[in-house]
Amino acid sequence: MATEKVVGTVTEDEEASSRYIVVKALEDGVVIMGLTRGKDTRSHHSERLDAGEVLVAQFTQLTAAIKVRGKAEIMTDVGKVSSGL
Ligand code: TRP
Repeated sequence: MATEKVVGTVTEDEEASSRYIVVKALEDGVVIMGLTRGKDTRSHHSERLDAGEVLVAQFTQLTAAIKVRGKAEIMTDVGKVSSGL
């Protein structure tokens, strides 16, 4: 019998934090960018959300930081903050 895959295992990036960040878009066109870990910082992925859409994400070996453009509610372990004007 094949070994069952554990739900939530990270395959692409190896290690992901066990914690999640949540971003809720408060307007159309909110952009969330994933910034690379390491010596150089580049945006490796961007995700566009419309009003009311929610992204649940983890930091990984590849992603050290995120940047949010537009009006959004951002929830992390360190608290809740809003972006945009
Ligand atoms: N490449 C940077 C690093 O690994 C990514 C980064 C982490 C970053 N924290 C940041 C970029 C804060 C801008 C601001 O350190």
